[in-house]
Amino acid sequence: MMNYKGGVGKTTLTANLGAVAASRGLRVLLIDLDPQTNLTFSFFSIDEWQDRIKDEGTIKQWYEGEMPGRNISLADLVLTPGPVNKALGGTTGKLDLISSHLGLINIDLELAALLGGTTTLNASKRRFLDLHGCLRRALEDEHFGQYDLVLLDCAPNFGLVTKTAIVASEHVLVPAKADYLSTLGLDYLVGNCDELKQQFNDFVDHRGGSDDHRPITSEFLGVVFTMVQIYSQQVTAAQQTYIDQVHLNSRVPVLKSKIRNSTRHFGSSGEGGVPAMLRATSKDEVVREFDELADEVLGALALSSGGDR
Ligand SMILES: Nc1ncnc2c1ncn2[C@@H]1O[C@H](COP(=O)(O)OP(=O)(O)OP(=O)(O)O)[C@@H](O)[C@H]1O
Ligand SMILES: [Mg+2]
Repeated sequence: MMNYKGGVGKTTLTANLGAVAASRGLRVLLIDLDPQTNLTFSFFSIDEWQDRIKDEGTIKQWYEGEMPGRNISLADLVLTPGPVNKALGGTTGKLDLISSHLGLINIDLELAALLGGTTTLNASKRRFLDLHGCLRRALEDEHFGQYDLVLLDCAPNFGLVTKTAIVASEHVLVPAKADYLSTLGLDYLVGNCDELKQQFNDFVDHRGGSDDHRPITSEFLGVVFTMVQIYSQQVTAAQQTYIDQVHLNSRVPVLKSKIRNSTRHFGSSGEGGVPAMLRATSKDEVVREFDELADEVLGALALSSGGDR
């Protein structure tokens, strides 16, 4: 989930889509890559995080040091939050999480400094590939073969940690609001991701495939409009205009599903460690919308038969 515009629903979507996928029997891993740590606090209480997770069990420990992953294995950071998995009882699905840390913001700057610290062109290409490809390599560990779906919740920036997430992803989903500024930036965002991909792949080609990096073949799954204003069963005219403009003028695909604005459901996001979509009643419109979104996303990832596992 990425969009360097803030507050567009990335974290809410990650938590709830992950929970809905798990309720359909999928084994889901969520990774919180945002120093704001909102996804983590959707599943763990602050006390639990302070006492048990903060000092040894977060993605910050993994990213820090000379090269991410040298000090600690990503698999050692996987947590199983209690309340959500209890709520999933009776399904074969599960939901695990790798926690973030408020200090990740400094790590992002340190990583950027590491990128510039080489002298020869070849060494700097190697460093570029190793740093940008670090999360991708780590997720290829056999430990993660047990998961059907891994969702990465990015911070609202295009820093190095976010870039490692893009390199690691097979698909990029862009939550966005249907307003002027949000839709204006979408092509730019896709352009930036394409540039990163291009640069990574050029460096891989240049090295003649002689090392452990492969070209990135990820694609944009599309934009999913969130917090959409609905009146009388319809998207408001103003918002529909922005959605139509993206359809017509943008090269970014737009998902059919949309998530409406519902402060009733998302006003207290993650309260009690169980995402709203597992707490809501099935007749709520927004539950139907999340179901459709799950159909569309899991269908595109060929994971829609998860419930039969
Ligand atoms: N569909 C929705 N209806 C109403 N409120 C929502 C909805 N989705 C998210 N929110 C609320 O909007 C705020 C921003 O959402 P969220 O944290 O998911 O966005 P984000 O893109 O992850 O933000 P950031 O860029 O800061 O990480 C939160 O308070 C959340 O509870
Ligand atoms: Mg967020």
